Amino acid sequence: MNDYYDVTLKKVRLKKLKKNIKFYFYRGLVQSEDLLESIFLKHKPKVVVHLAAQAGVRYSIDNPSSYVESNLIGTFQILETGRKYSLKHLLIASTSSVYGNSKDMPFNENQSANAPMSFYAATKKSNEVMAHSYSHIYNIPTTIFRFFTVYGPLGRPDMALFKFTKNILSDKPIDVYNNGKLVRDFTYISDLVKAIQLLIPNIPLKITKRKGIVKDDNISDVAPFRIVNIGNSKPINLLDFIKELENILGKKAKKNFLSMQDGDVYKTHSNIDLLKALTGFEPKTNIHEGIFQFVKWYKSYY
Ligand SMILES: NC(=O)c1ccc[n+]([C@@H]2O[C@H](COP(=O)([O-])OP(=O)(O)OC[C@H]3O[C@@H](n4cnc5c(N)ncnc54)[C@H](O)[C@@H]3O)[C@@H](O)[C@H]2O)c1
Repeated sequence: MNDYYDVTLKKVRLKKLKKNIKFYFYRGLVQSEDLLESIFLKHKPKVVVHLAAQAGVRYSIDNPSSYVESNLIGTFQILETGRKYSLKHLLIASTSSVYGNSKDMPFNENQSANAPMSFYAATKKSNEVMAHSYSHIYNIPTTIFRFFTVYGPLGRPDMALFKFTKNILSDKPIDVYNNGKLVRDFTYISDLVKAIQLLIPNIPLKITKRKGIVKDDNISDVAPFRIVNIGNSKPINLLDFIKELENILGKKAKKNFLSMQDGDVYKTHSNIDLLKALTGFEPKTNIHEGIFQFVKWYKSYY
C-alpha cells in the first residue's frame, strides 16, 4: 500500500482479493519483525510466496535506500521469521534483470548472473543468495522465481505498456529509450499466476530425498533450493510492441526517441525449459491477446 504509484489501483486489487473468504490483509512493512511475527504466529503458514518489493529499475537510481529497506531488510525478515515456522516451501520473486547485459541468450538459470546493471537487480540477486544460505543452514525448501517483464490488467503504472497507453490516448508523446532498439520477453499476468500456482507444490527436495534430477535443473548441491525463470520465451522488439499497441488502440503514437536509460538492459529472453520440465506448463498468451486485454481493462477502468 505504499505510494510508489497510485494507491487507488492497489485498493481496487485489494477489493478483488477480499472476495476470497480465506484472504486476510495486514497493512505494514515486510521488514517489521513484530508484524511478521504476529502474522506467522496467528496463521502458522506452511507456504509463503514473497512478492513484496521495491520494484523498478529507474527509481533505484535516485532512491537506492528504498531497495535496501524493502528488498534487503524485508527479505531478510521473511527468511528470519520463516525459519522459525518450519516452512514446507518458501517462494520468492526475483527478476530477469539479474542477468544484466549478458549476451548468452536465451537466459538460463545455470548461467552466471553476477553483473547487475541496476541497484534494483543487485538487491534481487542479493535476495537469491541470502535465501540460498537460509535454505542450506535451516533446510528451508526454497524456490526463486525470475520474472520476465510482467504485464496485464491492473498492472503497474510505471511500466511501459501503461505509460504508452496513457500517453497515446491523451495525445502526449511516449518516451522510447535507446531509440527503440530494445527487446523484451513480455509475460502475461495470468500465465505468470498459473506458473506460480504450479510451482507451489513443486517442492525442491532435500539432498538425501532426491531420486533423480530433472534435465538442466539448477537445484543446489547443498540445499533444497532452485531458481526458475518464468517468461514467455518469445522476445519482441520494442517498436513492434508499440505497433501492436497502436493497432489495438487504433491510434498512432508520437514518439520521443531517447538514448539508453541508465541501469537498463538491451534484451531479455527466457529459457523456460526448467519451468516446462517441472510443471508441464508454458505461457500461452501472445502479445496481441495480452495487449488487447490490457487495453480493454484500461479503457473500462479509466
Ligand atoms: N512486474 C514485473 O515485470 C516484474 C518483473 C520481475 C520481477 N518482479 C518482482 O515481482 C514482485 C511483484 O512486483 P510487481 O510488479 O507486482 O510490483 P508492485 O510494486 O505492484 O508490487 C509490490 C508490492 O510490494 C509492496 N511493498 C514494497 N515495499 C514494501 C515493504 N517494505 N513492505 C511491505 N510491502 C511492500 C508495494 O507496496 C507493492 O504493492 C516484486 O518482487 C518484483 O521485484 C516484477
